[in-house]
Amino acid sequence: MSPQPQAAVGAPLSRVDGRLKVTGKAQYAAEFDVDGAVHAVIVDASIGRGRITGIDTGAAEAQPGVLRVIHHGNAPKLPYRDNAGSNNPPGRRQRVFQDDRVLFHGQPVAVVVATTLEAAQHGASLVKVEYDTEQPSTDLHDGERDKPTNYARGDAEAGLRGAPVRLDLTYQLARNHHNPMEPHATIARWDGNKLTVWDKTQWVVGTHDELAAVFGLPAESVRVINPFVGGGFGSGLRCWPHSVVAALAARETKRPVKLVLSRKQMYFGTGFRPSYEYRLRLGSDRRGRLTAAIHDIDAETSSYETFTEAVMGAGQMLYSMPNVSQAYRTVPLDVNTPIWMRGPGFASASFVIESAMDELAHKLGVDPIELRLRNEPNEDESSNLPFSTRRLRECYTVGAREFGWQRRNPRPRSRREGDWLIGLGMAAGVYDPGRYPAQARARLDADGTAVVEAATSDMGPGTYTSQTQVAADALGLTMRTVTFRLGDSLYPPTSPHGGSATMASVGTAVHDACNQVRQQAIKLAVEDRESPLYGVKADDVVVRGGRLHVQGNPTRGETYRTLLARNNRTHLEAGGSYTGPPSPERHSYHAYNATFAEVAVDATLGLVRVRRMLGVYDAGRIISPKLADSQAIGGIVGGIGTALLEHTATDHRDGRIVNANLADYLVPVNADVPDVRAIYLDGEDNDGNALGVKGLGEVVQVGVAAAIGNAVFNATGRRIRELPITAEALL
Ligand code: MOS
Repeated sequence: MSPQPQAAVGAPLSRVDGRLKVTGKAQYAAEFDVDGAVHAVIVDASIGRGRITGIDTGAAEAQPGVLRVIHHGNAPKLPYRDNAGSNNPPGRRQRVFQDDRVLFHGQPVAVVVATTLEAAQHGASLVKVEYDTEQPSTDLHDGERDKPTNYARGDAEAGLRGAPVRLDLTYQLARNHHNPMEPHATIARWDGNKLTVWDKTQWVVGTHDELAAVFGLPAESVRVINPFVGGGFGSGLRCWPHSVVAALAARETKRPVKLVLSRKQMYFGTGFRPSYEYRLRLGSDRRGRLTAAIHDIDAETSSYETFTEAVMGAGQMLYSMPNVSQAYRTVPLDVNTPIWMRGPGFASASFVIESAMDELAHKLGVDPIELRLRNEPNEDESSNLPFSTRRLRECYTVGAREFGWQRRNPRPRSRREGDWLIGLGMAAGVYDPGRYPAQARARLDADGTAVVEAATSDMGPGTYTSQTQVAADALGLTMRTVTFRLGDSLYPPTSPHGGSATMASVGTAVHDACNQVRQQAIKLAVEDRESPLYGVKADDVVVRGGRLHVQGNPTRGETYRTLLARNNRTHLEAGGSYTGPPSPERHSYHAYNATFAEVAVDATLGLVRVRRMLGVYDAGRIISPKLADSQAIGGIVGGIGTALLEHTATDHRDGRIVNANLADYLVPVNADVPDVRAIYLDGEDNDGNALGVKGLGEVVQVGVAAAIGNAVFNATGRRIRELPITAEALL
């Protein structure tokens, strides 16, 4: 088949929805005008654990505008059918207003529905709840450990005992919250037994299935709409209780209901990156060849669901070594359930592993890049599969050159500018990108324009734009003549918009659907006696700018419009799909990076200022370089947050999150992010997706915190094994 010209893919295009966004015309979940909508405000539990003994709703109900107060005492029993899908972790999910138990501080205990937002808010403040209070357990260090998930190869204990060089390091990683700009919100409307929700979600299909399960509805009775997401980072990867509350409130009041979580409620109404205690013992020979690693990993989860993430992967395959053992234990606490947050699992593990590698390099007097090169594996030692592509060596080389690594003095505290100690650090990053089944539909109309649809989301990476690029090239159309639609459960189903999976998965389905439509048109033309392409081999026809022509002979051809009009076709249409990675897997398929940081640390005050950062990415083919830059920069900014600022703090006396707001939970601002650069290695990875992509959105945050921590060590000689790295810790 003649290769289709690639005009849009690889071009640094601006977002097709950019104008809608900057003019405020893009509609987010809470911004839909639904006729007759009233407002709901959740009342949060004010204890960390216990039982509700009484609820007095009299004062709230007496308020003008208040329509109803719903709580466990008057709420109908909901079916809550089992739903192992929709990203519900194993356990028994939080069931809103179904009993008197309080599982964590902030759990919804009632909802006030009123004609105005102000009346609902005031009403919520007037609901009086009495409790039998129990002592909550919210400290990772105190909780009972679950049975571990284990991994082993070789004999790590013996390997460690025999190692001439040994490290035994324990790291504490703070809980992080996603804090997307757009708060989570739901508008719910019932039309008879049919439920429509406008809901902030990264997975319209998952939210659809969960609401059908909770309310016991047939699939066709639920519709989820969500064309825009104002940031997610993982917080929208499952359907949270407030969406059920909104639907329940709408059903009880027979009015459409709008429910927006406050910033504070986002801290316990949605998930978070769990805190970890991670002990790593490393053994190596005197040249730094790793011989053994023992990973003891403890992570928080809730008392009612067991959330786990891919925190074990990096320790098994990033470096070559014969002996590895890992034990990953969840610790059930009286908190709400965690969820994936950018670079999930890998970002946490990489801080530990990459900080430890830096310690080992320092101990041995070996350059940190050289140490990593000495431990570069020839295959994935966890699966014994060859790598599809693994270009970490190039990431190191390019990164070292572009960042000026040779200017780093390996001796800590060797560079000073006035009050500031200057240091350079680096780390490697790896991520296992998702590849999930997806479907898409493409339709070419007689006017020569096309519409492509899939039930995915766009939380910010630019899915509208990148999928339009893929579709436009496959159809042989310009960007302007293709419309990509997403964010509606009526569109062909896809898996979650997360895990770096969207381009490999949805993109492949879009590519497939559009290729089929193009092939249909070509077939129509070459079999049509009146077409200038009559009799040409289908494989010799390409389409460019909406015009089919013989490859290498642009004059012989005709447009889609002419072809369809002459054949009395209103449209051509096809469904496309992606079925997932090859099974069994033939390759170890991962995205990689090398991340570099330069920091300045105030010698007296301990303040850390990031001066420069560089990420070099081996992420396969880059569909959209301009959008890739915004992903990479965003990931590095997120990593700066994890490294230096972000920490959800809980008062263990009552289980209350004490910094549930953006004044006290610190995220990086412009002044924290002076100079960030991203470089992508050219090339493709063709392991099971025709687009050659590996996925970029998660790996960009992996390794960032370690690179910064290692730079802080180079600047100060101080090794901080606790995230975030604070000024106090450096004093
Ligand atoms: Mo990403 S943590 O899967 O949104």
